[in-house]
Amino acid sequence: MPVCDLDKRAPLGKKVLGLDVVVWWDKNENEWKVFDDRCPHRLAPLSEGRIDPSGRLQCVYHGWCFGGSGDCKLIPQAPLDGPPVHSFPKACVAVYPSTVQNGIVWFWPNTDPQYKDILAKKKPPYVPELDDPSFDFQMFNRDIAYGYFICVFIKNLGNITRLTQVSCTVKVDREGGSPIDINIQKIDENGFTTTELPNRQWKFVSPCLLQGVLTIMESPNNIQGKLAQKPPRKDLFIFFAIPVSPGNSRLISVFPRNFRLWIDPFVSRWMHHIMQNLVIDSDFYLLQVQEEKLMEAGPSNWQKTCFVPTKADTNVVAYRKWLKKYAGGQIDWGTKFNGSLPPTLPREQLMDRYWSHVVNCSSCNGAYKGFNALHISLQVFSIALVAIMAASKPGMISVAVRNTIAVVAILCFVGSKWLSHFIYKNFHFHDYNHAFK
Ligand code: FES
Repeated sequence: MPVCDLDKRAPLGKKVLGLDVVVWWDKNENEWKVFDDRCPHRLAPLSEGRIDPSGRLQCVYHGWCFGGSGDCKLIPQAPLDGPPVHSFPKACVAVYPSTVQNGIVWFWPNTDPQYKDILAKKKPPYVPELDDPSFDFQMFNRDIAYGYFICVFIKNLGNITRLTQVSCTVKVDREGGSPIDINIQKIDENGFTTTELPNRQWKFVSPCLLQGVLTIMESPNNIQGKLAQKPPRKDLFIFFAIPVSPGNSRLISVFPRNFRLWIDPFVSRWMHHIMQNLVIDSDFYLLQVQEEKLMEAGPSNWQKTCFVPTKADTNVVAYRKWLKKYAGGQIDWGTKFNGSLPPTLPREQLMDRYWSHVVNCSSCNGAYKGFNALHISLQVFSIALVAIMAASKPGMISVAVRNTIAVVAILCFVGSKWLSHFIYKNFHFHDYNHAFK
């Protein structure tokens, strides 16, 4: 999860790689912690608990409290003069090694003590631009109702490809499609890199980072001038695709750039997110159906099922090659799942934005609450104005004032209706019909 969307006052439950984890802020150690989301007492989810006044994670079922190392600090039911049952190893919560990098909380998905210091040796994929103050960006996260493979290799690569066709001189069709010459540069166990043009590169870093870099070439005039003194202008497309469970993934995306930064103060984070949700929703349903078809064919039969004759699909082919050669072709869910997909949801639930994004985004959550408050205020105001008109006796207020009140009441009512539609469409559900776009 992006740190900017976590609340230090409350634990948050998440599923990653089939593991139920809880992330919480340990104010005593000034660190985000990732625990197994399961109380050792009677298995209640700790994510439903609270941070107690001493900064410990407390299970709300019977009040057991845990410190940042997973050690049990308090069992309220244990007599003070009895054995110190809270110090027994079975009273501890399993702790995942975790760290914050690039403004995201990462964890190593194994609580075995042998991995306690693993993050000192093995770092998550790092993007220097996300720590570079000359770049500006807004982070986005969304739970997606299709699996990790689709999340990485079709949705994102497809979108990046479209985004980079802006300067293509070949005549394009209605969808903006055109020949794209992408070539594999390198493929090994750490991922792969491809190039499209000298200034466009793609990189997949195992296990979850997909990154596109567009370096904007300056014109010869500018190279002579002062622009040549500045670092090159870069536009990055960064996607972290996180496996959640079969048929479910989480996407964290961010598009840093180091130019045209003056516009950013005028565009709120939630406005960026409305656009990103729209892009995701535009392909949501078809990608979910596509995943079902790929599963029917079998995970190792991708190349027999799909026909990918052009170089525009190089990134997808490279990803599938990497997956097959270095990652066994599929996710190892352990004993958690057999890999089969969950039942298909109705369209409105599938593309629901509220539970998949708004509740997990500090900016959209704030905007959602603000718009709802405004919506109710407009309704109340318009009703109050109508009541004032109805209660006033003839002659009490002039015709001009009466007319003004009526107009304002109508405007407030229309405004509240429009706002209600805006809220539903941007924060709940926006259907997408390609036939009419
Ligand atoms: S289940 Fe957590 S304290 Fe009892």
